[in-house]
Amino acid sequence: MDAHKQLTIGLFGFGVVGEGLYKVMHQTPSLNASIKRICIKHPGKKRNAPEELFTTDKDELLNDPEINVIVEVIDDSEAAFQIVSKAIRNGKAVVSASKKMLAEHLAEVLEMQQTTGEPFLYEAAACASIPVIRNLEEYYDNDLLHSMKAIVNGSTNFILTKMFEDKLDFKQALILAQQLGFAESNPKLDVEGYDAVNKWTLLLAHAYGILDNPNNIVFTGIHNIQAGDAVVAKEKNYHIKLVAQAQKLLNGKVAAFVLPQFVKNDDHLAFVRNEYNGVVIESGFADKQFFYGKGAGSFPTASAVLSDISALRYQYRYEYKKLYHHHPHELTHDFFVKVYISFDDLKYVPKESFEWVEEWHAMEERKYLVGVLPFRELAEKTWWRENNNSLILSPEPVIEDIEIRKLKKKSLELAGLFDWN
Ligand code: HSE
Repeated sequence: MDAHKQLTIGLFGFGVVGEGLYKVMHQTPSLNASIKRICIKHPGKKRNAPEELFTTDKDELLNDPEINVIVEVIDDSEAAFQIVSKAIRNGKAVVSASKKMLAEHLAEVLEMQQTTGEPFLYEAAACASIPVIRNLEEYYDNDLLHSMKAIVNGSTNFILTKMFEDKLDFKQALILAQQLGFAESNPKLDVEGYDAVNKWTLLLAHAYGILDNPNNIVFTGIHNIQAGDAVVAKEKNYHIKLVAQAQKLLNGKVAAFVLPQFVKNDDHLAFVRNEYNGVVIESGFADKQFFYGKGAGSFPTASAVLSDISALRYQYRYEYKKLYHHHPHELTHDFFVKVYISFDDLKYVPKESFEWVEEWHAMEERKYLVGVLPFRELAEKTWWRENNNSLILSPEPVIEDIEIRKLKKKSLELAGLFDWN
């Protein structure tokens, strides 16, 4: 695609993001791009665009030789996959915001790109307005990325902020997130962590060359967090955030998960409130860098789609450098995590699984402990998210395999053994 060529777009979806893009494009005439046709699922709805643009026949877009760019922003991941597959096969460039589709089909999407050579960009699929994918691709184009710690879901961050700072209840906060266009059509995807782990799957591919299924990454959402947990957080001067984390271990493998985490008041992520997202990257020589911006909503997401469309002008493509040019990393479950668990009934907490317990509060109505678990316990068992148990990781939760013995000895010497009964 040469820089002067007109970009003629076939747009799939006219929801929060699609309509946002339509409006944003009207305010960006310098882009030299126009939307020729918009494919929607439900005709007859009142929409803020000329009626003749709309169709329900996807082939009108996919088979139109004049349309050279397909922009896909629908929320049905299987339909989205069919659309983008055909678009690539038909030689069109593709821009997508469908994180679920991409996370579930990334390997196939990569293969298609390899065979056809057409650009396929999806900056809007992770952290909306923050250009994190392009930075991981271009700037961190090396092997020195130690860790990434991020808030990647705007809705859950918005709900936690509204609940714990503005004292709204969960339901009110969720309704507000839906009204503002932050939540997925099925908000369970946000609240239970699916959306965050889908985004994390994409970022792991660009950061570390890890191509894995979201089901293989340990995750949960914010649905088990209790009011009592917020009280403890306050006492300790912590915030509770849904944190996606990836960390290179001494053995060269990568620890990765998406779990609620206590975040210290002076941590960069504590600063991330409402629908904002934030990514803290730690690399070899630069120490920490912090990316911050709106992670959900119509215009912030549309702005990332717009930037991708604009990048098509200069044939920008992801090269997946960590996957193809370096030795890709592997995920591992062989490490330990320091966790806080609050519970109603101790019988649902397997004490024998803990390496040691550092804090034990059995008197309060909502009981809790702080202790160290092998990460495998979270990967292989489900007790920690059942029976009203609530797990929140401690700040700096990861403990390396080789440190565990020394730390355990020290901790037992200091604290003695707790009486569980
Ligand atoms: N539901 C998503 C979120 C939208 O809240 O982050 C942006 O991807």
